[in-house]
Amino acid sequence: MELSGIEKIIEKNGKHRSALIAILLDIQDENHFLPRDSLTYVAQAMDIPLVDVYRAATFYKYFSLQPRGEHMILVCLGTACHVRGAPRVLSEMQRKLNIKPRETTEDNLFTLETVNCLGACAMGPIVVIDAEYHGQMTVSKVDKLIRSFKKLEGIKKDEQGKKH
Ligand code: FES
Repeated sequence: MELSGIEKIIEKNGKHRSALIAILLDIQDENHFLPRDSLTYVAQAMDIPLVDVYRAATFYKYFSLQPRGEHMILVCLGTACHVRGAPRVLSEMQRKLNIKPRETTEDNLFTLETVNCLGACAMGPIVVIDAEYHGQMTVSKVDKLIRSFKKLEGIKKDEQGKKH
């Protein structure tokens, strides 16, 4: 990420310590993760000890210091989802994407994570992709879901290709 981009984010949110989380959220949204040099830059620009910036960046599960894929997939393994078949959903997800939780696909399209409860137990098993909830998930729905995202990416690429 360009340092001027981070500077703009800091300007937008203000150089107050209370704006740190908002700044990290904006950086993460732009990059899909928090590059280490961006954390150093934020610490210096805001005059906050680097250790405090790292503490914030590692405290919240939403933040990642590792590059993430274009789409974030969260599979809930909380009790309610577990008893309704979440482990089967997760294995199918792993098989389809050929990755394990906390990994990113080679084409950088998907990152897979597991969580313990997404607060929508009645809809379980739940999968969230890019903040969109998909309830009553089944093994066959996993296949459809992944294919629809790949198709969407194909269309996006075609459109970009036509523009050039
Ligand atoms: S256990 Fe999955 S949403 Fe609560």
